[in-house]
Amino acid sequence: MPGTLVAMPGVLPDGETVPVDGSLPATATTAVGARGFGVYVHVPFCASRCGYCDFNTYTASELGGGASREGYADSVLAELKLAARVLGDSPPPRVDTVFVGGGTPTLLPADDLARILDGIDRTWGLAADAEVTTEANPESVTPESLKLLRAAGYTRISLGMQSASPGVLAILDRRHSAGRATAAALEARDAGFEHVNLDLIYGTPGERAEDFAASLDQVVAAGVDHVSAYALIVEDGTRLAARMRRGELPYPSDDVAADRYLAAEAALDAAGLSWYEVSNWARTDEARCRHNLLYWTGADWWGLGPGAHSHVGGVRWWNVKHPSASNRPRGVSTARPVARRRRGPRPAALSRHAGGRAPGRPGERPTRVT
Ligand SMILES: C[S@@+](CC[C@H](N)C(=O)[O-])C[C@H]1O[C@@H](n2cnc3c(N)ncnc32)[C@H](O)[C@@H]1O
Ligand code: SF4
Repeated sequence: MPGTLVAMPGVLPDGETVPVDGSLPATATTAVGARGFGVYVHVPFCASRCGYCDFNTYTASELGGGASREGYADSVLAELKLAARVLGDSPPPRVDTVFVGGGTPTLLPADDLARILDGIDRTWGLAADAEVTTEANPESVTPESLKLLRAAGYTRISLGMQSASPGVLAILDRRHSAGRATAAALEARDAGFEHVNLDLIYGTPGERAEDFAASLDQVVAAGVDHVSAYALIVEDGTRLAARMRRGELPYPSDDVAADRYLAAEAALDAAGLSWYEVSNWARTDEARCRHNLLYWTGADWWGLGPGAHSHVGGVRWWNVKHPSASNRPRGVSTARPVARRRRGPRPAALSRHAGGRAPGRPGERPTRVT
């Protein structure tokens, strides 16, 4: 059971207080999963923080005491038990999609990611054709770890490539080469992943049209069946924003972003990847990210981990954002629900999953998939 609930002004949006036992109104649980049911697992760890990123993720030095990678899988499984108790008499008929996002989920050992997935399967049952995605940084996977993840039941992997240009990767503070991202995509396909995504960011200061064209060429050459291309968003409080404020780097231009978007659409379409959702292109209907589409169709989903949002039967709630010990309900989980609202899902406000915000196509409602 969750402990005493605390408000965290300025950290999370206000909402109605969640009952201490986490129970949901009976009206919300009458037909759980009738419109699809997904599980999101947030993994709030990164080896280093990229200068542009304001996701709910922490390096070892940012974490402080209390939360550890070592104990993380167990705390997610404990939180899952709480979720199972809340849905008790009205469990979903099956889990259609699982999305493990971050942060960098693949900083956890593959065995831990396997245990989390097994726990979800034992709790609610995975559909035979469930889509099971993990996000990954290119430098955080190996052919061996990818094989372990595939054997554990992960069907889809989403890798952050961002750019083919070493100069752009340096401005973004990425730790890997562009070559490592496409190599990891090939390794994932060799390991048997059915679906592989590469993320690109466009509009970074210093990126030339030919740099982005090279990025598009490389994702196409890697043979992935899904590409997410995000306009760079300058988030308050990031190192990148500070550098721009100091005049060290120019702010991104909307016109350039629009040109890059059109370039992405032309190159990906020519390569057989069709645009299907704000920042996303897929080779076939089956290659579309079903978990992301589930957010847009009013389905139910349960979010596990710090800052994760959930939506069941029109009730939306979210966990305390920081994964520190002081936010941990005694013996239960790294995260607990802090507040909720009774209304329909709002994909744009949710941004992507737990901690993300939402870069998108210029002028459109933002979202994020990967
Ligand atoms: C959780 S990260 C992906 C997985 C992994 N942590 C990585 O970075 O490789 C999700 C994606 O969000 C995108 N992203 C994060 N911050 C962004 C920003 N400020 N502007 C545009 N895209 C951003 C990046 O493309 C990144 O790959
Ligand atoms: S972009 Fe990915 S690796 Fe970089 S800080 Fe954000 S979540 Fe971590």
